[in-house]
Amino acid sequence: MPSPASLTVVLGTGGTISGTADRATDNVGYRAAQLGVAALVAAVPALAGVPLESAQVAQLDSKDMSHAVWQQLAQRVAAELARPDVGGVVVTHGTDTLEETAYFLHRVLAPAKPVVLTAAMRPATSLQADGPQNLLDAVTLAREPGAAGVLVVLGGRAFAADGLRKADAYRLDAFEGPEVARLEEGRVRPTGPWPRSAPLGLACIARAPERWPRVAWLTSHAGFDAALVDGLRAAGFDGLVIAGTGNGTLHADLQAALLRARDAGLEVRVTTRCASGRVVGGAPDQPVGPAQARVALLLELLQR
Ligand code: SIN
Repeated sequence: MPSPASLTVVLGTGGTISGTADRATDNVGYRAAQLGVAALVAAVPALAGVPLESAQVAQLDSKDMSHAVWQQLAQRVAAELARPDVGGVVVTHGTDTLEETAYFLHRVLAPAKPVVLTAAMRPATSLQADGPQNLLDAVTLAREPGAAGVLVVLGGRAFAADGLRKADAYRLDAFEGPEVARLEEGRVRPTGPWPRSAPLGLACIARAPERWPRVAWLTSHAGFDAALVDGLRAAGFDGLVIAGTGNGTLHADLQAALLRARDAGLEVRVTTRCASGRVVGGAPDQPVGPAQARVALLLELLQR
């Protein structure tokens, strides 16, 4: 007898997982976001007997992700999770901004049911496409009793959203972050706690996306030109995340410009441009990397 909450909803947003190339050997020169989510599900024979529904929420290369799609996706995921017959949701996505979307959904929804984002590093037409296995693993995790929170599955590993980073531009196991489970032969082996936190709620993101705060992200570097910061201030930006050098240190010209920006009312947060580690002595609840720190500042400003 199937459980009343056995249905999994798969929402498509595009990405390489739905990309196609002219040749099966081409894992770089492809077009992302070509196949619909129903075709991705149909390409995995092992999903044939699994109770699933699928729907296309967006169809884009995730480098072009927008706040409008985030709003639509969060609202759609929340609506699916509210259905008593739905046990979990899977979202297919591009890898390039996956850590941002996952963190956004984590902070807004912090769901008690699993929301599993998955992606692929190779297009669907590849000789050895990784998308079908990743999708199967994501559905397996979304149906796992007790699983909760926003999770990301790729290369046989499941991660919590908070702290996730795309760490490699080409390898199939491209992500680093807090691992919560391994997917092995159709089974989930938990390796860490499911993420749990209080959600901000959909009300926080209800206003029209074109009226969301404007938050930019810059990196401190040799020869930094302070005109960048002054330009953002003049353009009316509300927040600025800086990926500082090392332990969050800043070029002196950038530091001076940030003081001017702060005086003008801009909120400034500093992270590190290092690939690992967090700013020692920084705010303990701030995300480690600039991509997620930008989302955190956006959500903070949206609550004002
Ligand atoms: C994308 O992020 O949509 C393209 C790249 C990828 O999915 O790996």
